[in-house]
Amino acid sequence: MQHILEELEKRRAQARAGGGGRRIDSQHAKGKLTARERLDLLLDEGSFEEFDMFVEHRSHDFGMEAQRIPGDGVVTGWGTINGRVVYVFSKDFTVFGGSLSKAHAEKIVKVQEMAARNGAPIIGLFDAGGARIQEGVDSLAGYADIFLQNVLSSGVIPQISVIMGPCAGGDVYSPAMTDFIFMVKDTSYMYVTGPDVVKTVINEDVSHEDLGGYRVHALKSGVTDGAFENDLEALTQVRRLVDFLPLSNREKPPVRESYDEPYRDEKSLDTLVPANPNKPYDMKELILKVVDESDFFEISPDYAKNIIIGFGRMDGETVGFVANQPQVLAGVLDIDASRKGARFVRFCDAFNIPIVTFVDVPGFMPGTKQEQGALIKHGAKLLFAYAEATVPKVTLITRKAYGGAFDVMSSKNIRGDLNYAWPTAEIAVMGPKQAVEIIFRADMNAPERLAEREAEYRAHFANPFVAASRGYIDDVIMPHGTRRRIVRALKSLKNKQLSNPWKKHDNIPL
Ligand code: HXC
Repeated sequence: MQHILEELEKRRAQARAGGGGRRIDSQHAKGKLTARERLDLLLDEGSFEEFDMFVEHRSHDFGMEAQRIPGDGVVTGWGTINGRVVYVFSKDFTVFGGSLSKAHAEKIVKVQEMAARNGAPIIGLFDAGGARIQEGVDSLAGYADIFLQNVLSSGVIPQISVIMGPCAGGDVYSPAMTDFIFMVKDTSYMYVTGPDVVKTVINEDVSHEDLGGYRVHALKSGVTDGAFENDLEALTQVRRLVDFLPLSNREKPPVRESYDEPYRDEKSLDTLVPANPNKPYDMKELILKVVDESDFFEISPDYAKNIIIGFGRMDGETVGFVANQPQVLAGVLDIDASRKGARFVRFCDAFNIPIVTFVDVPGFMPGTKQEQGALIKHGAKLLFAYAEATVPKVTLITRKAYGGAFDVMSSKNIRGDLNYAWPTAEIAVMGPKQAVEIIFRADMNAPERLAEREAEYRAHFANPFVAASRGYIDDVIMPHGTRRRIVRALKSLKNKQLSNPWKKHDNIPL
């Protein structure tokens, strides 16, 4: 009997050794942790239950029958994060470079299906060389099986991808269909085709980093939602993010006890907006001053900085914040900001997370670059996302709300539930200067007359009271009372019921 028990231990130890000591040392030398070390950090201590650790590939080509390593390059299972269940898979670069065989794909699909069925998030840790070259089409079919599960689970359970090493070919498309992608700085990169293929096809010399490093994806392409210094920081931050999210769309977001006075006044907000309407201020200050304990998890902080998105809590309950940032491009809505905001609004709506919107927006970005880049379609994404969202929506206009951007940013007429404005709000079709230059073009050569007209326009429209007199704004509120008013607004909307007409699915402008 004893030898049977020992056989199990022997087999387990063999699987845990992955690709062996030499490859593990090489992994560590690159500043990366192993697949199992990463799971130990991501999950609560001792909570990991592994599946399929004895699964091996079934390939007989290119001498593969002589190379079998139990687990086959991916560690899968479930565990908990602060006591809540999550399903996980972690690619093991020490085993065939983490490449994907059919058996490896089946392991991932198994946890994807279990996560969806049991209503728990799935987190994938990526460090892999793409399709297992020796397996050919079986590997491609395995990827397609994973992609299908990504799509079926979208909007049902949160799906999170962390890129912690190479991530090429098939391995980029699965993350691309998940809700959030994070990268580790300097050790990870992601691209559809690597530098060698780029050189062959278009004769361009490019490094891994310049083609798909975090600077490309966290700053320019917006493919990733954040980049962290190392494996430890990335995994710690993913734990923090999971704490904000519901486990599935069948649940409300988790409520955490708050030690912050819900009706706390914040006097400094009375002077946040400068007297000069063209002077910027930091909208993040407003967010940090109203959320519980200044705890804000920002998504995509380095991309399209003219809009801020992220999660915070108001009296213990998760809220998604969307805010124009007057400090960057005056908070204008351009292509990147519209895409960034739209995707976040749809995530919140899919997962029952109320949306709080802070507005200071001079309009949409003008110019040929934006128009040729399809600003019309991308801007429409944000409008579409807000309009279709049925979760509680609370809006506060702090300063400018001009033109179409006023409509887009969760206005009353696209079903904003409670729309507030500070006394400093200016709600108009456009800024005073541009407006008078159009409607009083005849006075263009009479600067004094034009200045008079501008003052008249400013006095009439550069305030929230015209909008409030029509009911487009529910109340004009004191800046220092913002936290209290938003907490109360969200409480009043707790049992909101609203649904859209039946449809197979909508046709958001893509
Ligand atoms: C099988 C692979 C592999 C792969 C790496 N290995 N990639 N084995 N299939 N795709 C193995 C290597 O043979 C090596 O084995 C070990 O993993 C480590 O690889 P190295 O090259 O030594 O590591 P490194 O120098 O760090 O380079 C990592 C890498 C490189 C950049 C990822 O390995 C690479 O370019 N791999 C190929 C990437 C690729 O083109 N994949 C196919 C994409 S196409 P030993 O035994 O020496 O440790 C694709 C199509 C799917 O994915 C599309 C679906 C839509």
